Amino acid sequence: MLAGGDLDLAFALAAVAGALAYFVFASFLFGAGYQPTPPGAALAMLRYAELSPRDTLYDLGAGTGALVFRAARIYRARVLGVEVEPLRVVVLRLRARLGRFGDRVTIRWGNLFDLDFSEATVVATFLWPGAMLRLRPKLEAELPAGARVVSHCHPIPGWRAEAHDTAHDVYLYRWPDARSPTGAATGGA
Ligand SMILES: C[S@@+](CC[C@H](N)C(=O)[O-])C[C@H]1O[C@@H](n2cnc3c(N)ncnc32)[C@H](O)[C@@H]1O
Repeated sequence: MLAGGDLDLAFALAAVAGALAYFVFASFLFGAGYQPTPPGAALAMLRYAELSPRDTLYDLGAGTGALVFRAARIYRARVLGVEVEPLRVVVLRLRARLGRFGDRVTIRWGNLFDLDFSEATVVATFLWPGAMLRLRPKLEAELPAGARVVSHCHPIPGWRAEAHDTAHDVYLYRWPDARSPTGAATGGA
């Protein structure tokens, strides 16, 4: 028979184990590993994109909102954040509801590859290399001319970066200038 204190400890341990299991399980289930963009890199991405209140930023894989809420709060941009992992979507929606400028934020639960990018003036990514490779033809088919793409950590294979902030590892692309004239894989293969 467990005493009260032992039960509390057992519940606490079960909660921690459950949270860890969910973290691992969710990553496998949704193919969606999570690592938040560091604040300095998030700010560098938004600065590179020259974000303004006229912009509509699509954050592809919004996580818990490292970019979404800074873009809305600091730059007053409209933001569409798409995220596949439901717990992160709950966090994003709570932040949008409770925070200031949440009216400028739309959170979509789903797969970013099902989204149509034609309304985006800025696209932000921090995705793994395989996803970047899959993303490229979709960006090329749907982005409007003049759209900027900012990516943390991983370049867009075959695109020519207009700038690379090596301190924060942020790439800036402008569509359609980013298309390499030779088709060579500049900025990563
Ligand atoms: C490296 S994390 C970056 C999170 C967020 N951008 C940030 O800076 O905090 C990548 C995020 O993309 C999400 N993700 C990965 N593939 C996705 C997909 N196909 N559709 C929507 N979200 C996706 C993951 O769930 C994860 O939250």
